[in-house]
Amino acid sequence: MLQVENLTKHYPARGRGLFTRDPRRVRAVDGVSFEVKAGEVVAVVGESGCGKSTLGRLAIRLLEPTSGSIRLGGTDITSLKGEALREIRLTAQIVFQDPFGSLNPRMTVGASIAYPLRVNRLFGRADGAAIARRVDELLERVGLNAAHARRLPHELSGGQRQRVGIARAIAVNPKLLVLDEPVAALDLSAQARVLNLFKELQREMGMAYLFITHDLSVAEYMADRILVMYAGKLVETGGRLALFQAPRHPYTQALFSAAMLRSGRASEETILEGDPPSPIDPLPGCRFNTRCPHAGEVCRAAEPAMSALDDGHGAACHLLTGKLRRSG
Ligand SMILES: Nc1ncnc2c1ncn2[C@@H]1O[C@H](COP(=O)(O)OP(=O)(O)OP(=O)(O)O)[C@@H](O)[C@H]1O
Ligand SMILES: [Mg+2]
Repeated sequence: MLQVENLTKHYPARGRGLFTRDPRRVRAVDGVSFEVKAGEVVAVVGESGCGKSTLGRLAIRLLEPTSGSIRLGGTDITSLKGEALREIRLTAQIVFQDPFGSLNPRMTVGASIAYPLRVNRLFGRADGAAIARRVDELLERVGLNAAHARRLPHELSGGQRQRVGIARAIAVNPKLLVLDEPVAALDLSAQARVLNLFKELQREMGMAYLFITHDLSVAEYMADRILVMYAGKLVETGGRLALFQAPRHPYTQALFSAAMLRSGRASEETILEGDPPSPIDPLPGCRFNTRCPHAGEVCRAAEPAMSALDDGHGAACHLLTGKLRRSG
């Protein structure tokens, strides 16, 4: 469904004085490769600022990549423009964390959901009644009802607003949804209900999800496979069970240890000391070396490549590929 190869997004840094251009680059996403199969749920996890949202937006070309390639449903979409770029939206849609920010506050719910149907000309221009029927059907599909079509976003609860965002995203029957922290703004009970809605929709419509979340319990509940991101790079990938039961990369082990301790799958928590490295001009070597309990000489000198491990995980770590001898 989605194949991403060596994808990179650099932003201009905005560090120095107001009137002097900062020549440095923020390497928000830096050489990332992965794929999402049809109907598969792939979660992207990692600390704030590691590049998850940038990656999600690149994947469906809401952002222009600096380099690398993206194939969506077998078509190279890396450098599409204009009408061809708009057509991607029939295959791939996005749901954001904050439905308040993504819904037009002056547009009724019905108009917001009808919008993608109209711009993509899925119905005849004069076919208002058919569009209205489709909007009602979509509202029911996400657990709302026809009466909600006349409401404005501020008249709804957070959970209801997010359902409107979901109805709008699925209106064109996409095959891939990028979900960027879609439940992070909701209280726990609304989170559970919306996650279950995502599960139902995925089963019934056979969509693939690229599910971005900083919440590991959400990833564990939703994902078939998990991508762990650190400072613009993927550090480990693997099936959900394998990753939760036996994380291999030292960063994944630290990130997952709190969750594993809570569920009784680990006996002690690994505390991650220090901050993630600046995405501006990162140091050479492995980006995790400043916080890694196992880091050795090679980790400060050479960047580890993503390699397949015997158990089907992929990991980018010298320790795991034998370049660093395990000490102790
Ligand atoms: N438009 C931009 N211009 C410059 N830097 C940016 C821009 N957008 C994001 N960044 C930087 O790129 C890096 C990755 O940001 P991104 O929003 O993708 O991270 P994230 O993993 O989604 O974080 P969070 O969990 O907080 O949502 C950060 O260092 C961020 O400050
Ligand atoms: Mg984000």
